Amino acid sequence: MKIFRSYAKINLHLEVRGRRPDGYHELRTIFQTVDLADEIGVERSARPGVELEVRGAELPLDERNLAVRAARAFLSAWAPADAGVALRLVKRIPAGGGLGGGSSNAATVLRALGELFAVRPDPAWLARVAGELGADVPFFLHGGTALGSGRGDVIRPLADAPRPRGELVLLLPPAPLATAAVFAELAAPPLPAAPAGEPVWPRPGANAGDFAAWIGDNDLEAPAFRLCPPLGALYTAAVRSGARRVRMSGSGSTLFALFDEAGAAERAARSWPPDIVWKRIETLDRAAWNAASGFELAQGGA
Ligand code: C5P
Repeated sequence: MKIFRSYAKINLHLEVRGRRPDGYHELRTIFQTVDLADEIGVERSARPGVELEVRGAELPLDERNLAVRAARAFLSAWAPADAGVALRLVKRIPAGGGLGGGSSNAATVLRALGELFAVRPDPAWLARVAGELGADVPFFLHGGTALGSGRGDVIRPLADAPRPRGELVLLLPPAPLATAAVFAELAAPPLPAAPAGEPVWPRPGANAGDFAAWIGDNDLEAPAFRLCPPLGALYTAAVRSGARRVRMSGSGSTLFALFDEAGAAERAARSWPPDIVWKRIETLDRAAWNAASGFELAQGGA
């Protein structure tokens, strides 16, 4: 079995420009890969089609799982009609947490099956299929730091954000949040007709050498905190406990907090609710992400 790592992301910034006629929301978001990963094993199987085994979480094993959908899309385009694959997924990224776990799994499966079948799907095919699987999937073909526009699926890789000084931690609440519910609660106005200007990130005048300057806003925090008041209370507790920046990732429910000094999170955590699991993380730049993911060939990239 060939083993790959499927890394999580956080959104350093997420701006909702408006609701589109197709019901999706037009975003501008800054994605960043972090060193929390699932493991995905792939091998050829004598039985045609896709088999999935999952350890570490209760997840559907059929086409409701994005990894299965990704594998089926790959097989139908790039493998003989009777080809079969077995996927083994070891979950460490919480589901419904805004960390892109399922999306990362889908993108990793697309790339992993390319290696297993020794084909290199053309990047336009990968980008299109990834976008059809989900708005967050295309980012995981690139990794590192990237700007997402459109539904979040149009990716422009950026120069890597600097490593955080001090300590970066995830705060993982026990309850997940459903992305569609958070967008619905936002009740965003229709998308303005005026095209978006080309964004500059970090913002002009900010110190690009300081990771904190790469952390912007998240327009989904207010609706997420309305839907789930304990999450709003956790945000306030994290700010009061001395974090320099606190943000929600994607549509939640994970928050991330940046502390100035190593060891500060341990002290701060004493004032957080006892059911909150927290975890130190590092950001992964594009090269480190690619190397650690286990692929022989770099894909995407700047
Ligand atoms: O693309 P994905 O399946 O991850 O999106 C889940 C849901 O989140 C969509 O059905 C939609 O309701 C909402 N969404 C949105 N605008 C985006 C991304 C997601 O409204 N840009």
